[in-house]
Amino acid sequence: MTRVRITYTSDMWWKTAVIYCLDVETFLDWNDDGIGDLAGLAQRLDYLADLGVTCVWLMPFFPTPDRDDGYDIIDFYGVDHRLGSVGDLVEVIRTAKDRGMRVIADLVVNHTSDQHPWFQSARSSPDSPFRDFYVWADEPPQDAQAEPVFPDQESSVWTYDEKAGQYYLHRFYKHQPDLNVSNPKVRDEVAKILGYWLQLGLSGFRVDAVPFFVETLGVQNADEAVPDPHLNLRHLRAFLSRRSGEAILLGEVNLPHADQLKFFGGPDGDELHMQFDFIGMQALYLSLARADARPLIKALQDRPRPSADVQWAGFVRNHDELTLDKLSDSERQEVFAAFGPEAEMQVYGRGLIRRLPPMLGGDPRRIRMVYSLLFCLPGTPVLFYGEEIGMGENLSAGSRLAVRTPMQWAAEENAGFSRASAAKLPGQIPTGAYGSEFVNVASQQTDPDSLLNFITLLTRTYRHCPELGWGSFEVLSQPHRAVLAHRCTWDDGSLVAVHNLGRDGVAVPLDLGELEPGTTLVDLLEGWSITPDDNGKCELTLEGYGYSWLRVNTPTTRRLR
Ligand code: GLC
Ligand code: CA
Repeated sequence: MTRVRITYTSDMWWKTAVIYCLDVETFLDWNDDGIGDLAGLAQRLDYLADLGVTCVWLMPFFPTPDRDDGYDIIDFYGVDHRLGSVGDLVEVIRTAKDRGMRVIADLVVNHTSDQHPWFQSARSSPDSPFRDFYVWADEPPQDAQAEPVFPDQESSVWTYDEKAGQYYLHRFYKHQPDLNVSNPKVRDEVAKILGYWLQLGLSGFRVDAVPFFVETLGVQNADEAVPDPHLNLRHLRAFLSRRSGEAILLGEVNLPHADQLKFFGGPDGDELHMQFDFIGMQALYLSLARADARPLIKALQDRPRPSADVQWAGFVRNHDELTLDKLSDSERQEVFAAFGPEAEMQVYGRGLIRRLPPMLGGDPRRIRMVYSLLFCLPGTPVLFYGEEIGMGENLSAGSRLAVRTPMQWAAEENAGFSRASAAKLPGQIPTGAYGSEFVNVASQQTDPDSLLNFITLLTRTYRHCPELGWGSFEVLSQPHRAVLAHRCTWDDGSLVAVHNLGRDGVAVPLDLGELEPGTTLVDLLEGWSITPDDNGKCELTLEGYGYSWLRVNTPTTRRLR
């Protein structure tokens, strides 16, 4: 029997991580001024550790005018004073490490806030040393047009600045001028920012808007200045890995597979360590809408697997709109019809601003089935805060803020998030069925049947199954469209998982081929087992929205079950 390569696997800790994304501002307010803070987060690190989180991803905590929820930064080296100090952040990082959790943070270097001193200086004079930190043009160049990312807010990616007397490029809001990556000084600054936070103890970054960061739209003589934009990313990665061997770059690259592949770099994976699986996420919703596993299967099978040194990060919900931009128009309409038919639930013509439980009509079996899938598809699962308790959205908050409401800790005033008056909170807590009387951490902690305890079971079981992060992936053929049966195998571990996306019960035949005599399949979530016949065949019954994780338990396996 091969032994598990413990040293090697712990170096690549991120391949079996459980990542949890949160915004300090909406997590827990410890000084009762209405705004979540680092002191509050420090108080809840034990909660996250109990949940099985191994890596906390902090959304931007930097000084900001807060016109894009902190993605508009005025000082890359600071902490917004409302959240606490750099000292408080170091305490959080240190305490998290003590609980076995790493901390990563958003690296937002495609743009700055227009209030950033670089931009203020840049616009003040063509001779400013920071002028070339941004991308300028006398007239919006016709050959350098592109769609703004927020089409309902901006009509162009070029805006005229009176003071500068020129147009500047911005892919996102006009108050977020794009940095000029063709300028080596900008690249040096970005490296310095990375180095600074690594030195303070971060274990890497969720890299915002990566494709825009490497592109040279609007840059004059770009071919000369940046012959290969990916080289910039490779250099940044090399710098990161020199500074910290454990540090990761987890990139936001919502592009077709062929383009995503390039962002992993060469055969050894020398650009991003991980990328979010936007295509798999969108296919998941199409599959759920149709009760047909085939779109998801196709997305998983098409997904490039360039090397063992890179990884996909799966998610059901993130902090942005649930984008459906990679589906065809008619597929998107199907998902809209199933999960967000009202105009107020949709945004930018491409996404939904709802959380999963309300989209599934609150059906606990279906919600659990989706999270079971998230944890047992190959890759690293990423949770968005509040998913573990089944929080809903607040549509009246509008747009992406609908899913960024305060964390619901208890059935108390302000959901136990803050004792300030409700008007001071960073968002309004949902009322009704998803209000804090019904959805909160405190009551779920003491309820053995709660979603919180179920998700904790999933994180624990996933951590016991390194084949999910490391292994090869294979879809097992079977006759039901609604069923996804797959197998992940690595080293001496092999896991078969079966998920029923449909509402009707089914009998699922499994054919596992040749097996060691005496092999059983042990359900890791409920504990029952089934013995395949001599040809590796068996049948199991799944209820509507049923699921099962089956350890292929041979007489020589030493894995936990
Ligand atoms: C990314 C973030 C989003 C932000 C945008 C601009 O897409 O996920 O929240 O608004 O970048 O920084
Ligand atoms: Ca506070």
